[in-house]
Amino acid sequence: MIIAVDGPAASGKGTLARRLAQHFNLGHLDTGKLYRATALRALASGGDPADPAVAEAAAKAVRAADLGDPRLADEAVARGASVVAAIPSVRQALFAFQRDFARHPPGGAAGAVLDGRDIGTVICPDADAKLFITAGIEARAARRVKELRDSGKAAIYEAVLQDMKDRDARDSQRRAAPMVPADDAFVLDTTTLDADAAFAAALDFIGRKLAAAPAKG
Ligand code: CDP
Repeated sequence: MIIAVDGPAASGKGTLARRLAQHFNLGHLDTGKLYRATALRALASGGDPADPAVAEAAAKAVRAADLGDPRLADEAVARGASVVAAIPSVRQALFAFQRDFARHPPGGAAGAVLDGRDIGTVICPDADAKLFITAGIEARAARRVKELRDSGKAAIYEAVLQDMKDRDARDSQRRAAPMVPADDAFVLDTTTLDADAAFAAALDFIGRKLAAAPAKG
């Protein structure tokens, strides 16, 4: 079973994906970490993440062990991630890692939940259920500020909001795999929903989707 969870920054997709994976006993991959790890490698090498040659080399060097680096949470890395993510050769270099995870989730799990921007459209177009999680930009910026402050980092609301607007624009306007809901995705706006309510709505959709699906095999 593959569940695709896409959506913009701080929409609640990560929390939801984690909870779904736990509930259904599936593997979970936060694909944003691959783009963040690419940006981190490019920045650490002293190169410019916007340079396609630098970014592609960084993407090719990304390994599973990179995904636990605490520096991936930095906002500068997130910004760099949305820059490298617009480069087609970077997306291509990270494609196999994501597909392998979906097909062979770690620990022999019966499937996987992947969260990102293009899971339902490009990485797993045959996913059993696709969700597109969104929320108003002010609500998302406020959540990100809280997240940053809770982890002991300083955060200015206006700066986070502007960063998020820039990143939304880059992610949805790029030519390579732009952020857009798949035709068959369930679009869930979490502006006024807490994590429990979003989880309940997602479970309801997945339950109906699986019940309607023809039996496999
Ligand atoms: O958690 P947040 O949404 O802030 O960021 P993320 O999910 O870690 O993704 C960071 C950046 O990577 C995004 O702004 C996208 O540009 C890019 N990304 C992507 O292009 N495709 C994905 N499947 C996942 C992330």
